[in-house]
Amino acid sequence: MKEKKVGLWSIISPVKFRIRIAMFLASIGAISLISSLLLLSFALTNILQNAPLLIFGVELNLINTMLLLAILTIIAFLTRLASFIVSHLAAFHLEQILRTKLSLHLATVPLGYILSNGSGTLKKVMQDDVKTLHTFVADSTPMIAKSIVAPILTLIILLVIDYRFAIATLSVFILGWITMAFTMRDSGVLREKYEQSQSNINKAVIEFAQAMPVVRTFDDGTSSFKRYNNALLDYKENLNHWMNIGAFSAKLGMIILSPLPTLIAVIITAIYLLNLERLELFAFISALFLSTGMADSMMPLMWINNHIKKSQNSALKIQEVLEVKPLLMATDSKEINSFDIEFEKVSFKYNSEENYALKDISFKVMQGSVTALVGPSGAGKSTIAKLIPRFWDTSSGSIKIGGVDIKELSSETLMNTVSFVFQDTFLFQDTIYNNIKMANPSAPKQDIISAAKAAQIHDFIESLPDGYETLAGDRGTNLSGGQKQRITIARAILRDTPIIVLDEATAFTDPENEEEIIKALANLTINKTVIMIAHRLSTIKNSDQIIVFDDGKISEIGKHNKLLEKQGIYKKLWSNYEKAQNWNLEKGKEND
Ligand SMILES: Nc1ncnc2c1ncn2[C@@H]1O[C@H](COP(=O)(O)OP(=O)(O)OP(=O)(O)O)[C@@H](O)[C@H]1O
Ligand SMILES: [Mg+2]
Repeated sequence: MKEKKVGLWSIISPVKFRIRIAMFLASIGAISLISSLLLLSFALTNILQNAPLLIFGVELNLINTMLLLAILTIIAFLTRLASFIVSHLAAFHLEQILRTKLSLHLATVPLGYILSNGSGTLKKVMQDDVKTLHTFVADSTPMIAKSIVAPILTLIILLVIDYRFAIATLSVFILGWITMAFTMRDSGVLREKYEQSQSNINKAVIEFAQAMPVVRTFDDGTSSFKRYNNALLDYKENLNHWMNIGAFSAKLGMIILSPLPTLIAVIITAIYLLNLERLELFAFISALFLSTGMADSMMPLMWINNHIKKSQNSALKIQEVLEVKPLLMATDSKEINSFDIEFEKVSFKYNSEENYALKDISFKVMQGSVTALVGPSGAGKSTIAKLIPRFWDTSSGSIKIGGVDIKELSSETLMNTVSFVFQDTFLFQDTIYNNIKMANPSAPKQDIISAAKAAQIHDFIESLPDGYETLAGDRGTNLSGGQKQRITIARAILRDTPIIVLDEATAFTDPENEEEIIKALANLTINKTVIMIAHRLSTIKNSDQIIVFDDGKISEIGKHNKLLEKQGIYKKLWSNYEKAQNWNLEKGKEND
């Protein structure tokens, strides 16, 4: 619990000074308001008793009193306004600081972190969580100051004037406070339940939508709809429960903290004192004026408490992102003389995982050769590929290009040396032309078209109504996975780096696409140093070196024929592959 507070306060600390000023101003506002009420009680007592008004021994006439009242009211109003302005400016400033800090930081963290968290999650942190802290600083901080200063000051004044009124008021206040604490306790548990069921709904909606095409082939959608519907019913029930229980104790609290119970307590005390003939008019009037404000100032704490908890969560999420270790890039790069790649005793563990995804991997790829990585799903092939562009850094061991540790290369040198075509292709929301051109912004149009031709995608692009000007990306034309991949291959061809890392997709198995992708890849890899992860084993048969991975370790290295003789994992993979091919062939025949 304490740690959480540290999160919130340390995240908002850049505007700490302004928050303190806003809180100070809000306190002054509360003090002047209470002082004006006190002055009013003074004036009223003296009018009723027909005696002159004495403040600190100075006599005040009615006009002066009114003037002083007006001044206090104006101070109360102005400080409130100023506190509002300061806290809102602080909030805007904080928002700006956090967004800048987050984006600068995200630019330095390993790309793998961003890819594995998904841009949606990070966007949520940058927008929603930052917004929550904005609201907290803008609205809650002055309110907190007021809610603390007002009751304490009132209590002190009442104690000085007549402790019995203080006790009466305090009892009602404590009663209201206890009720409120119950509300908060209930609402904490209930809110968790509520949030859980809300997130269940979201999951169910996504699943329902995503599974639709699959589900519809063997079911009319009823079973997945049922799951969605159950989540919805659960949500409704939790919401009602929260509303009912929460609403009951909250209402009770609100009734107790409203002015009436306090007024009744004050009047009862007054009657009691009257019976004892100990009632002073001034004490009674000022108790009437001041007491109600005390309970009243508790009211906002009801929602502020919720808001503080929410803000703490947001602060923690922001802190989590900011604590991701940045990737240190070398500023002045070492020269590379060859394009041999060498893994030396590389082990790697993903942050959140217990087990190592790669264990003690050593191998060498000679310049100009083709190395294929194979192995069962989850063996670590893509992880190897992602370590070369430093999407992640190795946990131990080193990766060298031309004898130089990749950590000693500037990002520019690394980018100009290695290209990647990955399983999950990514196109920007821009024209196809610009999507290819981004690999080499200074390339003339001719080069872009030849790259597209070499990638076997030119004819397709020309067949589109807008040709190269067609928009790609999420909101653009619907491109098939194979077409997207060929566009990214064109990008890599245009980039023309000496080393190519390919993480081939398994999904695009329609024969026509396959043939075109194979041709495109052949054009991409001419005279390059290539590391490829292939699922179609036929494409790797002729590789200079095949490395077989199993469970994060290298189990076999060699050429196709040598590996087949070994009767090991490769042999097994190969016969499975052949079986699958035959099965496809027979299925094809049946369909004819
Ligand atoms: N971003 C990530 N965070 C945590 N663990 C990960 C992440 N990516 C992969 N892993 C884990 O690391 C291990 C190796 O995964 P990797 O993607 O390298 O396998 P792969 O050999 O490429 O498999 P496939 O053939 O299915 O593509 C797996 O156990 C996987 O669950
Ligand atoms: Mg993979």
